[in-house]
Amino acid sequence: MATNIDWSRLTFSYTKTNTILSCSFKDGKWGEVESHTDDTIRISSFAGALHYSIECFEGLKAFRGKDGKIRIFRPDENAARLQRSAKFLGIEAPSTEMFIEMCIRAVKENIDFLPPYGTHASLYLRPTLIGVNPQLGVNSSKDCIFLMLCSPVGAYTGGNLEPINVVIARNYDRAAPNGCGCYKLGGNYAASLYSYNLAHKQGYKAVLYLDPAEKKYIDEFNSSNFFAIKGNTYITPESDSILPSITNKSLEAAARYLGMDVERRKIEVEELSGFEEAGECGTAVVITPVYQIDDKPFLESDEVTSYTFGSKTACGPKSLRLYNMITGIQYGETEDPFGWCVFVE
Ligand code: PLP
Ligand code: COI
Repeated sequence: MATNIDWSRLTFSYTKTNTILSCSFKDGKWGEVESHTDDTIRISSFAGALHYSIECFEGLKAFRGKDGKIRIFRPDENAARLQRSAKFLGIEAPSTEMFIEMCIRAVKENIDFLPPYGTHASLYLRPTLIGVNPQLGVNSSKDCIFLMLCSPVGAYTGGNLEPINVVIARNYDRAAPNGCGCYKLGGNYAASLYSYNLAHKQGYKAVLYLDPAEKKYIDEFNSSNFFAIKGNTYITPESDSILPSITNKSLEAAARYLGMDVERRKIEVEELSGFEEAGECGTAVVITPVYQIDDKPFLESDEVTSYTFGSKTACGPKSLRLYNMITGIQYGETEDPFGWCVFVE
């Protein structure tokens, strides 16, 4: 199917593609992987996913490279994280092999939607696992459906590498201490929506949450991890209530490879004043530089302490170097010393 997509104007929104893939876990075993041109699915209106958020998902990207090759970035890591999320929910997860095979098949069936090289766009894969048993009582679901969905995407907020402003909303949390913030569950995003919507109305592009136990340390954003640069050091939070980001883990490795020091540790809010660069990192946001963090005791009030980092219009030099290394590997512009990519033949 030919598309008339203006690739350079793509944002992070849904475009229907050729197919979605689905596979059901029923009676203790996975069935055949099916391909559907229709993006709707039929489940019981009493399915656990709809009532008790028995749902977890992943996000990863496929890239068309400078060398014409197609790369999927670290799908084994996403498979492992989905397995951890599913275990937390008490539902069955696909094996790593099945997960990667379905990623590859989804890319092949939707190849017309894989953006051309040079557009900064990519094909976003959204593996989604839902519990589908009809139920009224709160318990885990024996039967599940695993979906491999995709959509071509561009920058998450504004333009590529465009610095953003964000807010610390001290009177809201996305996760609980000893809760499920470290798993990729749909429910975590529902929990962040109220504060995100309020912040968005005030002109902020993201919410930066603090550790929910002490409200002393930086945790993460609503849809990405936090990182900062101080001197030659890449610094990122250590916390049990944040999602272990695959992009962040890759940036840590890239930083070391580029001769930088890496610190994963608790970061006190007051330390923000000593950082030269700050940013969001994640699959959807890649690296998005942050130029201002407003710390508000109450999101609804005017009281604020502001921290600024570098330029309002350009990405800081160290963040840019890291961005170039990661995206260089993804688009086949830079040699991949880590063997991170899976190729779609
Ligand atoms: N934190 C949250 C809350 C996210 O939604 C995401 C996105 O997946 C991330 C961090 C970044 O994780 P990753 O780099 O694996 O995409
Ligand atoms: C991702 O970066 O893949 C995410 O899942 C974040 C967001 C779009 C929810």
